[in-house]
Amino acid sequence: MTTEILKRPAGETSARPLLSIAGLRVRYGRTHAVRGIDLDIMPGESVAILGESGSGKSVTGKAVMGLINPPGKVAGSVEFDGMQLVGRSEASLRAVRGPGIAMVFQDSLDALNPVFSIGSQIIEIFTVRLSWSGQQAREEAIRLMLQVGIVNPESRLDDYPHQFSGGMRQRICIAMAIALKPRLLIADEPTTALDVTVQAGILKLISQLQRDSGMALLFVTHDLAVARQVARKLVVMYAGRVVERGPIDDVFHRPAHPYTRALLGSNPGSVKHWSELKPIAGNPPDKSAVFTGCAFAPRCPRAVRMCSEREPDFVTVADGRQSRCHFAQEMFDGR
Ligand SMILES: Nc1ncnc2c1ncn2[C@@H]1O[C@H](COP(=O)(O)OP(=O)(O)OP(=O)(O)O)[C@@H](O)[C@H]1O
Ligand code: SF4
Ligand SMILES: [Mg+2]
Repeated sequence: MTTEILKRPAGETSARPLLSIAGLRVRYGRTHAVRGIDLDIMPGESVAILGESGSGKSVTGKAVMGLINPPGKVAGSVEFDGMQLVGRSEASLRAVRGPGIAMVFQDSLDALNPVFSIGSQIIEIFTVRLSWSGQQAREEAIRLMLQVGIVNPESRLDDYPHQFSGGMRQRICIAMAIALKPRLLIADEPTTALDVTVQAGILKLISQLQRDSGMALLFVTHDLAVARQVARKLVVMYAGRVVERGPIDDVFHRPAHPYTRALLGSNPGSVKHWSELKPIAGNPPDKSAVFTGCAFAPRCPRAVRMCSEREPDFVTVADGRQSRCHFAQEMFDGR
């Protein structure tokens, strides 16, 4: 079953979503990390999840990978190519991780094992998962390292993670994630700790790999300018919920949610001059709070009484554009 589902259909032209998340919730005791997310990703599509720190972006990625460990509790549905992943056995999920869904984690230093050489960590993927010979695996490891921009890979196979720069480690993490040719790559803030030049190189690499291989991409970031470089579609998260979604450039030019507008105003990549930057007022909400109305209300410049009394549903403001705000249409229309 699992091997069947992991085969990439020629051209990936299916009209069915590759990943379909519905009503996803993740709790750690009284902490609501994710409060009900719906999100579809089509084969080959690139989607960015944008939100402030603590909004539940990484937890969403980990939940898709089946990596929420106790005491974390997952509810809702995560379907990958029609296969339900929530509640699936660890052995079955392991078969999906790699050729089905792969993830580049937020901190590359934590993701790599410090006591094993880079070469042995990449080679092991092929010897363990594909039962390849050591020689064949070594050759593929060298090819992969070259593909992600490691110069002289043969001479670097025996080096340890700490002997690589942050940017190079991130490239190696990307190489390991794409080793088994995943149909969906989740990249969780892969450039946050890197300087601007190195960041640009990594974003270019991810876009190129995505285009060349036709894999779908779920890119997690708190920076809309970065998201625009790799993704076509945007999903904005606030307090564990999706509050706006649509084609990324449309949302950028015409946000239909006050939180998205506030994010744009606070992002150096989105304003013409630093003097236009406006930090978002207030603090993200308490993760253990239970909301009766809109979670953004205490920080929202547009809030009225109804906002804290009734939670807004999604409003379709234009084709492919949705916003969870009582004033979504007015926002979209510039009123
Ligand atoms: N292992 C855990 N145990 C308890 N609570 C957790 C755990 N992991 C995440 N959380 C809670 O879930 C919330 C969302 O975490 P998450 O890591 O998804 O945020 P994020 O949007 O990725 O933020 P950042 O931009 O800082 O990476 C956190 O604020 C935290 O309270
Ligand atoms: S529903 Fe009200 S509080 Fe929430 S974002 Fe819209 S205007 Fe602001
Ligand atoms: Mg995170």
